[in-house]
Amino acid sequence: MTRNSNGSPGGEAAGPVVDAVTCSNLAYSFGGTRAVDGLELAVRPGEVFGLLGPNGAGKTTAIRCITTLLPVPAGMVRVFGHDAAGDRMAVRRLLGYVPQQLSADAALTGRENVTLFARVFDVPRRERAARVTQALAAVGLTDAADRLANTYSGGMVRRLELAQALVSAPRLLILDEPTIGLDPIARTGVWGHINAVRAATGMTVLVTTHYMDEADQYCDRVGLMHRGRIRALGTPAELRRGLGERRRAEGGTATDALPTLEDVFRDVAGSGLDDTSGDFRDVRSTRRTAHRVG
Ligand SMILES: Nc1ncnc2c1ncn2[C@@H]1O[C@H](COP(=O)(O)OP(=O)(O)O)[C@@H](O)[C@H]1O
Ligand SMILES: [Mg+2]
Repeated sequence: MTRNSNGSPGGEAAGPVVDAVTCSNLAYSFGGTRAVDGLELAVRPGEVFGLLGPNGAGKTTAIRCITTLLPVPAGMVRVFGHDAAGDRMAVRRLLGYVPQQLSADAALTGRENVTLFARVFDVPRRERAARVTQALAAVGLTDAADRLANTYSGGMVRRLELAQALVSAPRLLILDEPTIGLDPIARTGVWGHINAVRAATGMTVLVTTHYMDEADQYCDRVGLMHRGRIRALGTPAELRRGLGERRRAEGGTATDALPTLEDVFRDVAGSGLDDTSGDFRDVRSTRRTAHRVG
């Protein structure tokens, strides 16, 4: 375990690189529901890591423990070496967060929304206006900056939230379902801006999504989460190749040997679990119904 507690890049110590995020045996329950159940996770500095899984898998709960919005009742969470339970302010200073629920205020302009975040995150007063302008430019909202957010399209609102999270120049950007409900063009736009900022700054990105195609395209590594734990981990290509090779060895057809990431997920969720009666889609629709009824 490393103890490079200042987390500064290029530290003189020749020890192992400090992970951007480490979760060790993290557990979190809502009453009797074990939302996160012994999560092991290591996100490397500079990578885009995708936490994937159906609704109810525990992604948001895990993310909220990492952001310190929820406590860490069991296990350990570190962000660039800082303990999320013991050193919450240090962790908060390092991260930008785009929550699953919309966080922009429709009655304010884009610029006002981002300025609000700049204040909350203690961007120095003298730098504030320039940093807000820069964050809006980074997500392609320069022309719309002084319009009310309620005139924005869904994709623009998501990009505004991205600007809010970027204004503090985070080393770790955490995005919870950043493209949910967006059309394919808007989804591509959001990802384009995330990648451009990441290329320019070297920040680490932790993103949750249930769009497997998107994860396949944009994530360096993915963890497939189901029932509170990561069930498979690797680059999208490694995971696809692994399943393809197994299917070929089992005498599958040529099509079987070229699985998608969604096939990998279905395989993991279906075989590794004792009482799962259906596949990933069944689980997802069951959870949706449960949410609606509950
Ligand atoms: N505030 C809450 N109160 C009670 N149960 C919750 C709450 N938030 C989440 N859960 C439950 O915890 C589990 C994991 O939810 P969540 O972390 O939101 O999953 P995901 O983000 O992967 O969809 C689900 O069974 C969900 O119903
Ligand atoms: Mg969620």
